[in-house]
Amino acid sequence: MFDLIAENIEDYCKVHTSDPDVLLYQLWRETHLKTMNPRMASGKLQGMFLTFIAKMMQPQKVLEIGTFTGYSTLSFAAGMPASGHIDTIESNAELEDFILKYFQHSPCPENITLHIGNALNIIPQLAASDYDLAFIDADKEEYAACYELILPKMRKGGIILADNVLWNTKVVEEVAHNDKDTKAIVAFNKKVQIDPRVRNMLLPFRDGMMLIEKL
Ligand SMILES: C[S@@+](CC[C@H](N)C(=O)[O-])C[C@H]1O[C@@H](n2cnc3c(N)ncnc32)[C@H](O)[C@@H]1O
Repeated sequence: MFDLIAENIEDYCKVHTSDPDVLLYQLWRETHLKTMNPRMASGKLQGMFLTFIAKMMQPQKVLEIGTFTGYSTLSFAAGMPASGHIDTIESNAELEDFILKYFQHSPCPENITLHIGNALNIIPQLAASDYDLAFIDADKEEYAACYELILPKMRKGGIILADNVLWNTKVVEEVAHNDKDTKAIVAFNKKVQIDPRVRNMLLPFRDGMMLIEKL
């Protein structure tokens, strides 16, 4: 993950952002102690952004692709109504115990379902077809395929967020012929931009967040 803004500006933003609850702080700490790539977790600023999105939208149904250790999931949960539900999908089965430990200590564990497996197989099996909010934050080469599976499952007016769409600013540089991730993100951004089914905005926040409304 790469930050578009200078480190001192990001630090200033963090200082002037409310702290997440203790559970999220513990999750963040344990993620750094026990995982190989802790920077994949949303963290304080993006987590609070997701909480505010959930507070503003009050979604009943949220679909997340790429749980990792659950920081973004619990950030959404912190802003959702008590009647809301999150389906979150993670392909790495080794993370299951870690994730469930934190979900079980969250205020409404029954409101979160963790699906372990490849999102491309799991999304078509999900019963819901009227998600209010979705978050794509998994394998970059699979963004476009996930998007195609998710869009029909969104309600009209529903919002899809896709993270890392500036991909360390590589999207505006010459792409190496073997750089599959950057090629995939560039293709995804282009696909969304010309898709008549949606309205979109590329927000230059953190590593770039595409906001997509289903029309
Ligand atoms: C960037 S991390 C997610 C971070 C998390 N959303 C957060 O903000 O804290 C990406 C995660 O997606 C998972 N992943 C990658 N491809 C996937 C797929 N096809 N289906 C489900 N999960 C996938 C990876 O194992 C990894 O844990």
